[in-house]
Amino acid sequence: MAAVLRSGQLAQGQAVASLETAFAAFVGAPFCVATSSGTAALHLALLAHGVGPGDEVITTPFSFIATANAILYTGATPVFADIDPDTLNVAPDSVERAITPRTRAILPVDLYGNPCDLVAFEDIAHRRGLALIDDACQAHGADIGGRRTGSFGTGCFSFYPTKNMTSGEGGMIATSDPDVAERAAMLRSHGSTDRYVHEELGYNYRMSEVHAAIGLAQLQRLEERNAARSANAAHYDAELGLPRPAVLPNAHPAWHQYTLLLERGRRNAVAVRLEQVGVGVGIYYPTPIHHQPLYRRLGFTASCPNAEAAAERVLSIPVHPGLNSEDRHYVVEQVKSALSGWR
Ligand SMILES: Cc1ncc(COP(=O)(O)O)c(C=O)c1O
Repeated sequence: MAAVLRSGQLAQGQAVASLETAFAAFVGAPFCVATSSGTAALHLALLAHGVGPGDEVITTPFSFIATANAILYTGATPVFADIDPDTLNVAPDSVERAITPRTRAILPVDLYGNPCDLVAFEDIAHRRGLALIDDACQAHGADIGGRRTGSFGTGCFSFYPTKNMTSGEGGMIATSDPDVAERAAMLRSHGSTDRYVHEELGYNYRMSEVHAAIGLAQLQRLEERNAARSANAAHYDAELGLPRPAVLPNAHPAWHQYTLLLERGRRNAVAVRLEQVGVGVGIYYPTPIHHQPLYRRLGFTASCPNAEAAAERVLSIPVHPGLNSEDRHYVVEQVKSALSGWR
């Protein structure tokens, strides 16, 4: 960090280039392009794949709003395919059913750090001539079929402070397509191909050197911190044994959230009770994207019953690497007590 400040170059310098190289090596993708946020990464990835007005992009309704908003930014239309009720990730068969002649890309999400079926999506994208853009904003270091997220199609990551690794704010595009990487880098900086030469309408989605320096330090600790998350998740699996999103047989999640699937109608009371006893819980997400006021106003009428049901059942309990064994024990006891009498 001090080296960055001393260098006098505070944007798009050596630290950004080093983070791009190190992250590419980490995920196993040939090219990485750093951005100012995960949302910017998604927007640029879609643009770099040529998505625009008149196109459809198939995605999940059960995600953070940024996933679908990035599609709207391009002028394309998000098409919501329902999730698998076990994994809570968008289901390959519902994606395949939603393909039309206008479909340009599929944009699944690795929700909670749990890889979606990227092997199936890669196959669908290949067979149907579509771009695959994986929203891995919650899944740094997760893998499926022996490959990390970011190495399937084009992957997008967020380095927002709550994520498994942060740069303060920031994001990353990982891709094996050199043209996508080149276009994303050009659009990241006002469509500039040379100093003060602007070929296209671009954006200021650059990452600063200060943010990149934080990202580099965080990347060094990512595997150790993901291992701590996994140990916490394994503890909850063993001690609580409650339903949670299923992990595909060939996958290893990077548990961003550890999420219980409670009975419908009981989740909110359990959340209140846990907050009262000092257990920080989260609901990701209480409203599926197609039911958000913005999307309703835009006329989205899709029915995604599995996503709608999940939104009423999910409750995330602390899984972050800062938990010690006493914290975990306390969480387990409090969850059991909040649920007692209901099971
Ligand atoms: C699934 C998902 N997609 C996209 C984003 C957007 O990332 P950012 O907040 O860095 O713009 C986030 C995180 O906030 C996310 O969780």
